[in-house]
Amino acid sequence: MKGLQIDGQQVTLDVREEEFYRNPYPYYSELQRKCPAFYWKNYGVVTFTRHTDIDSILRSRKFGRRHEGCPLTYNASEDATLEPFFKADRYSLLNLEAPEHGRLRSLVQRAFINANIQQYEQYIVELGHELCDAMLVRLHKGEAVDLIRSFAEPIPVMVIAKMLGIGAEAKDSLLEWSHAMVRMYEPERTPQVEADAAAASTAFMDFLEVIIEDRRQHLADDLISHLIRASEDGEESISREEMISTIILLLNAGHEATVHSIANGAAALMQHPKQLSYWRDMCLQQADLTGATAELLRYDTPLHIFNRYVLSDTIVAGQELRQGQIVSLILGAGNRDEEVFNRPHELDLLRSATAHLSFGRGVHFCLGAPLARLEVRLALKILFQAIPGMRLSMPPVKANTYHFQGHQEVMVCI
Ligand code: HEM
Repeated sequence: MKGLQIDGQQVTLDVREEEFYRNPYPYYSELQRKCPAFYWKNYGVVTFTRHTDIDSILRSRKFGRRHEGCPLTYNASEDATLEPFFKADRYSLLNLEAPEHGRLRSLVQRAFINANIQQYEQYIVELGHELCDAMLVRLHKGEAVDLIRSFAEPIPVMVIAKMLGIGAEAKDSLLEWSHAMVRMYEPERTPQVEADAAAASTAFMDFLEVIIEDRRQHLADDLISHLIRASEDGEESISREEMISTIILLLNAGHEATVHSIANGAAALMQHPKQLSYWRDMCLQQADLTGATAELLRYDTPLHIFNRYVLSDTIVAGQELRQGQIVSLILGAGNRDEEVFNRPHELDLLRSATAHLSFGRGVHFCLGAPLARLEVRLALKILFQAIPGMRLSMPPVKANTYHFQGHQEVMVCI
C-alpha cells in the first residue's frame, strides 16, 4: 500500500498521500489486521482504529477534549494572528469539559427541543424540490451538473440559517467563513489557512454581534431566541462569548458534515445500482429509512478523525497512555470494523448499521444528529424521486482533505 510503513506498532503515513486520501479504507483494514492501535509517527499521536477501542475511549472519563493548561486545539500555534479564531472557538462545546460543558450543552439542547426540528421538514422538502428543478433544467440541456454545489451544499446551510433566524441572503458569507474556519481541523495547516481562518472568525463574530443584539430586543421562534430564553428562564445563564461560539459551532458543524453526508450517500447509491433500487423501493413504499440512512452514514464516514487528551494515565489495547498525551480515533476505520459489521466494505441498506460511530459517542455525541438524519434522509429521497434517470457522468474523486471525507465534485447527468 503506497506510503504506508508499519514497523511493529509504529506507523508512517502522510494523509496527503494520494492513494490514501482517494480511498483510505483498504489502509484501515491493513492497520486493523496488523496493528489496530499504533503510534502515528507523522503526527506524534497514538491512534486507534477498532470500533471497540474508539467506543470505549469516547465514553471514558479518562479522556477529554480539554485539560488544564492544554492548547485549545491540537497543533495550536502560539501565533497572535490566530487570536480571533481561538476567541470564536473558545466556548465551542467541542472544546469544553465538565462542568462548563454540561451547563452549556443542556442550554443548547433545550433550545433545540424548543425549536422543534420537525417543523423544518416541509422547508427541507420544498428547498430540495426547488434545487432539483433547477438541476433538471440544466440536465435536460445535456449539461453535467455538480451535485455538491447544486444540491448537497445549499440544503444544510439554508436549513441551519433558517433555524437560527438568519436570512438566506447571508448564505454565501456563512459558507465562506465556515469553509475557512474548518480547514483549521485538518492535521496540517499552512500560514495562509491560519490567516484565512482568523479573518473569517473576525467577520463572523462581527456579523453575529449585530444579530444577537437585535434578537435580544425582538425575541422570535428561532434557535438564537430560544437560546436567549433558555438562559433567561432557568438558573443557568449564557455569556455573550458563549453565545457567539455556540452559534458559530452550530453553523459550521451544522452544515459541513451534512453536505458530505448527502453527497457521499448519493455517490455511493449511484455506484451501487442494486442498493439504489432498494432505496427507491423503500421511498415508494413510504418505508422507514432510518436503517438505510444509518448505513449510508457508516459506509462513507463524513468526519474521519477526532482527538482526545488523556486526562489520567491508563492502558487501552495494550498502549500505555500518559496524562496530557493526545490520542486520535479514526471513526472511518471503526465504521469498517469486521468485528462489528459483516462484510464491512459492502454497502448494504438492509443491514442494521445503527452502531456506526459517525456521530461520535459519549458526552460530546453529536447534538445535531436528529437534524442531520432528517436532512440526509429527505435530501436523498427527494433527489432520486425528482430526477429518476440521474447517473454519475464520471467517477467522483475524493478531495485532498482528511478530517472531512468528501468529494471534490460529484458530476451527474441524465
Ligand atoms: C451528518 C452530519 C453530521 C455528522 C457526521 C456529525 C458528527 C459529529 C461528531 C462525530 C461529533 C462529536 C465530536 C467529538 O466527539 O469530538 C459532533 C458533535 C457536534 N455536532 Fe455534529 N455532525 C453532523 C451534523 C450536525 C448538525 C446538523 C448539527 C447542528 C445543527 C451538529 C452539531 C453538533 C454539535 C453542537 C456538536 C458538539 C456536541 C458537544 O460537544 O457536546 N452536527 N458531530
